[in-house]
Amino acid sequence: MAICFQEKKHIFTLQTAHSTYQMKVDDFGFLVHLYYGGKTAGDMDYLLTYYDRGFSGNPSEVKNDRTYSMDALPQEYPALGMGDYRSSALIIHNVDGTDCCNLRYVSHEIKKGKYHLKGLPAVYAKEEEADTLKILLEDAVSKVQVVLLYGVLEKEDIITRSAKIINQGDKRISVKKAASACLDFVDGSYEMLSFYGRHAMERNFQRTEIAHGNYVIGSRRGTSSHQYNPAVMIAEKGATEDTGKCYGMVFVYSGNFMFEVENDQYGQTRAVMGLHSDLFHYPLEQGQELVIPETILSYSGEGFGKLSRQYHQCIREHICRGRYRDQIRPILLNSWEAAYFDFDGEMIVELAKEAAELGIDMVVMDDGWFGKRDDDNSGLGDWQVNEKKLGCTLKELTDKVNSYGVKFGIWIEPEMISEDSDLYREHPDYAIQIPGRKPIRGRNQLVLDFSREEVRSHVFEQICAVLDQANVEYIKWDMNRSLADFYSMKKNQGQGQVTYDYVLGVYDFLDKLLGRYPDMLIEGCSGGGGRFDAGMLYYTPQIWCSDNTDAVDRVLIQYGTSFFYPASAVGAHVSAVPNHQTGRSVSLHTRGVVAMAGTFGYELDPGKLTKEEKEELKEQIRHYKEYAQLIHSGKYYRLSNPFSDSCGAWMFVSEDGECALVNVVMLEIHGNMTVNYVRMKGLIPDAVYEDSDTGRCYYGSALMEAGIPMPVELGEYLAYQIVLKRKPDEI
Ligand code: GLA
Repeated sequence: MAICFQEKKHIFTLQTAHSTYQMKVDDFGFLVHLYYGGKTAGDMDYLLTYYDRGFSGNPSEVKNDRTYSMDALPQEYPALGMGDYRSSALIIHNVDGTDCCNLRYVSHEIKKGKYHLKGLPAVYAKEEEADTLKILLEDAVSKVQVVLLYGVLEKEDIITRSAKIINQGDKRISVKKAASACLDFVDGSYEMLSFYGRHAMERNFQRTEIAHGNYVIGSRRGTSSHQYNPAVMIAEKGATEDTGKCYGMVFVYSGNFMFEVENDQYGQTRAVMGLHSDLFHYPLEQGQELVIPETILSYSGEGFGKLSRQYHQCIREHICRGRYRDQIRPILLNSWEAAYFDFDGEMIVELAKEAAELGIDMVVMDDGWFGKRDDDNSGLGDWQVNEKKLGCTLKELTDKVNSYGVKFGIWIEPEMISEDSDLYREHPDYAIQIPGRKPIRGRNQLVLDFSREEVRSHVFEQICAVLDQANVEYIKWDMNRSLADFYSMKKNQGQGQVTYDYVLGVYDFLDKLLGRYPDMLIEGCSGGGGRFDAGMLYYTPQIWCSDNTDAVDRVLIQYGTSFFYPASAVGAHVSAVPNHQTGRSVSLHTRGVVAMAGTFGYELDPGKLTKEEKEELKEQIRHYKEYAQLIHSGKYYRLSNPFSDSCGAWMFVSEDGECALVNVVMLEIHGNMTVNYVRMKGLIPDAVYEDSDTGRCYYGSALMEAGIPMPVELGEYLAYQIVLKRKPDEI
């Protein structure tokens, strides 16, 4: 069992392969945090220190002991109102107008297997792979209970945390703020790695000092957002890709979130991950409960690279599900950048014909096939095939595509409604908007109230009616605006509940869809990577990484994405040049190398390519297929930081270290250019590797310690791929 409880000292210890997490119920019933970090043995309660601290209050039961203060002690789940003035994990608003919750230990339970969360995505594991600890805390006055949930995946070095808030009192309460994880560090200087961005430029890398004050990132947009990803690393100062202690906090949720970090007055650091407290005010009547989405914690004593690989494995094997979890994904040809709204059935069939010749597995008919939808101002909500535009039925179209040996996929945006749609004319109340106010539009569309079951059912039925017509094997699930006007017409609810209930509605829809079409591959999308999070990956094992398909920008976007998310989750395609988002032209080879750091596909009209380009493309596809398994499930190593280095470089290494694929994109070129040496990682030091292209052999140690010089060649953004295969003999 990875979890143990020491009766005498009331200490809980959670052990993973390389980390230890410890907490204790102290003499007053408070659950205090003791330690999280590299593996240790014994009780860590000696780490707690007690000093008389001015202006840090003391609970009454400690009597005259002024050295005991919640304001200074590390805690597991700090609630506001207990004399702890740091960021809190929980704020409960009581009917008497107070914001106070005094949580004390009541009981606990240790079980084999990983807990589940009702209505929410969460890490899953086989019974023998995980253990669960549940700790029940209660406020004796309001009878508010909190169940803290801990899941331990020992081998994976993963600890998950969640919380359930239950109102056992007879008065209505309101949850104003709730987190699923709080990490308190009693000492140390830390930095934070977070990933900010915007539409078409998501997940830029940012490293900042955690200084005194409260630093917050989050989303109030109803989705996890392009702007800040709900995943952060906290690293000891000076930590690198390969050295230093670092911690990850990944929120398994696709809606509003808030991450707070603070270096307090005593030099202690607190990090809290949970639901955003703005636009949130969740009422709980007697007996009702609220489940807080899970945070996945992980620790590495060997830098960010190892921490990333721990998350990659966890997300690939314990978040992503379904038939495609372990399968190499089909290579897609998507119609969006090939034709935008301007296509008909014949053109889609033409794409399929080209796809078959090139070795592409699937054609995806993107936006524009339904209702009145020749631009993005109308039609959302009317999920009826526009047979006039296609010139045939969906079945006829799909059959033709399939007749070339090519699979067929389709784009949908179920959460949306256009004001110019039959659905809106019939059910204006289905849209999220505030009565008496004009709605905020985004892409000239409104959002459907997915917190309401009848709204979801209506859309579900329409979409199933389409999917049932033909052999559809893939769905691109899109979501193209941020939410605003948080109000639910039917329930007469303001913002407090809708932000959360909406997200659970989306999950419910996805659950039902997968229940009905278990073999369907769903690719998530939200204007590219605006909802790229572990919550969505539970339903959609891949997500369109960004609407920006420019290979150079993608090096940066995919670099940031790689900190938590595996390559198998990253939708990446080769598109035409000049690139539609940046106007930049780079070679087909470079575009291919960059798209090969993901699920791979094309976003162009092959009919517009020259004969030579088509030949190159065929070779690119053959090459990708050869290494697709390695890319899907190999270990991922970042070899450079493209935000500061003159090249972007990354590599995949097979689990057994026998084979590796190294990728390099030159980002700078100058006169009389200096030489770039790329140092590899993850190889077996005393093994000999052969460069498949040149036949040249190297020791793993040489490749890792000294690296190899990249050629100095004229041209912008040149890319290189090196395949290394282990040779049985010595040099
Ligand atoms: C979003 C997606 C694109 C495309 C369009 C269609 O922007 O990210 O890939 O599907 O919508 O409208």
